[in-house]
Amino acid sequence: MSAPPTPKDVGAMYDALTDLLSQALGDNIHAGYWQDAQDTSNVAQAADRLTGLVGQRLRTGAGQHVLDVGCGSGRPAVRIAAASGSRVTGITVSGHQLSLARARPEASAPDGMLEFRQADAMRLPFPDASFDAAYAIESLLHMSDQRTALAHLARVLRPGGRLVVADLCLSTVPHGADADDVAAASQVFQVSSIASPDEYRTLLEEAGFKVEEFSDIAPHVRRTYAVVARTMCQAGESIGGELAVQLDGAAASVERFGTLDCIGYALVTAVRP
Ligand SMILES: C[S@@+](CC[C@H](N)C(=O)[O-])C[C@H]1O[C@@H](n2cnc3c(N)ncnc32)[C@H](O)[C@@H]1O
Repeated sequence: MSAPPTPKDVGAMYDALTDLLSQALGDNIHAGYWQDAQDTSNVAQAADRLTGLVGQRLRTGAGQHVLDVGCGSGRPAVRIAAASGSRVTGITVSGHQLSLARARPEASAPDGMLEFRQADAMRLPFPDASFDAAYAIESLLHMSDQRTALAHLARVLRPGGRLVVADLCLSTVPHGADADDVAAASQVFQVSSIASPDEYRTLLEEAGFKVEEFSDIAPHVRRTYAVVARTMCQAGESIGGELAVQLDGAAASVERFGTLDCIGYALVTAVRP
């Protein structure tokens, strides 16, 4: 078994893949949420809808301060700040994502509603009880020490503060070819581990959180994988050469990943008592 990725490895992967993933996912770097099979939303609308679901669960308002753990290129933070009136600080381990996030016009607005920093969630550089709420969209799965990251989150949240996690989860233990597909996709995307629902609950409770709501929304997000795989193939075709072969291989692995029954998607709300 190979060593889990370090924040540096994850940052380097996002430095290389953020433009491609953002292109595939409508300026976001997370899954879309479709209401049902008849939902004709495009991937950008569906991804923004997922951000909206996270934002609603935070229940913050004007004058409050929210931490975005793994902020990508900043679109979710911009949307959550605008919808809630809360100030949002986003952190990422990718220098390229940091530049993209800081280049957003909203990030330099004089109202100071948005701030982006390069920082590691496993060593959060913020004082105790300095945030009213926090959210992590598809970032925990990259972290080699989710226990430490969650302990930091419990530390920087004020009592009563909410944490919302939107992330892949393992609904069942994969075996055989399915396990190989999970391992292949995890290697491409520098995934450290994907927790089961029970593991999420335990991790959160051990960090001092009370789990308020846990939903597996996999049927609503599954379409995302085929969309990303298609964009990777198209990018490969336009580039050609060895990179095209690599992108094709990665796309096939993403597409297969999206068909696996063991892959769930957790939307969790927890409260720091
Ligand atoms: C799949 S992207 C999601 C980006 C963003 N949340 C979104 O939804 O558009 C994963 C994010 O997690 C961040 N991340 C991964 N490991 C991290 C760590 N140890 N500390 C802080 N951020 C991390 C990456 O830098 C990246 O921004």
